[in-house]
Amino acid sequence: MRVPLMAGNWKMYKTAREAAEVIRALRADVADVADVDVVVCPPFTALAAALEAARGSRIAIGAQDCHWEKEGAFTGEVAAPMLADLGCRHAIVGHSERRQYFGETDATVDRKVEAVLAHGLTCIGCLGETLQEREAGQTLTVLERQLRGGFARHLTSARLVIAYEPVWAIGTGRTATPDQAQEAHTFLRGLVAEVAGGDAAARLRILCGGSVKPDNVAALMAQPDVDGGLVGGASLDPASFARIVKFRG
Ligand code: PGA
Repeated sequence: MRVPLMAGNWKMYKTAREAAEVIRALRADVADVADVDVVVCPPFTALAAALEAARGSRIAIGAQDCHWEKEGAFTGEVAAPMLADLGCRHAIVGHSERRQYFGETDATVDRKVEAVLAHGLTCIGCLGETLQEREAGQTLTVLERQLRGGFARHLTSARLVIAYEPVWAIGTGRTATPDQAQEAHTFLRGLVAEVAGGDAAARLRILCGGSVKPDNVAALMAQPDVDGGLVGGASLDPASFARIVKFRG
């Protein structure tokens, strides 16, 4: 059985003090939830405060990105061993905003996933099609290209999680319908089986993302291949994210 995972992606929101406040409220709200993995990914500058506020709770803290090298002359970047040293347990890689605004490619995703896994972290690797690609009927082609290009070498790792986030659903209030999510997730799982075998496919957790909210999470989670959510806007408020973590009601 795949344990559901709910990950909050805070993007460029919250100071260290604000992050600690949210985590303290969230830890009280989710203290009684035993069968869901909970991860919060604040900005780099709030990681230490978030880790301190989450200490001893069931909330794991992750980063939103990291560099592929373990150190080096890369001004402004942060490396996977630095995140592991701080106490982070997860890192998001290949988010569509990184791909769209910061030149992330399948090739850099592949190298980052390798670094994240090599340093003992769980990697939440993102992929998803744009609206233009969906309307052109290219959704599955794009997903296949991104999966093969960024993740194929890493699919046997038990610490890889994939997040399917259609770009047209991110921050727009438009969500993939449960059927659209299931179609993409089934396709991805089938591809994983082809590339890495049935065991890897059965074990891999595939999250869905893009405007996941308290009122649509249950229908998405009812799909057999949806194993959790990568949640942006609705994870910024502890009460809202707690309702998502408690999707079973
Ligand atoms: P959203 O963001 O929930 O605000 O749409 C999701 C994400 O980008 O991970």
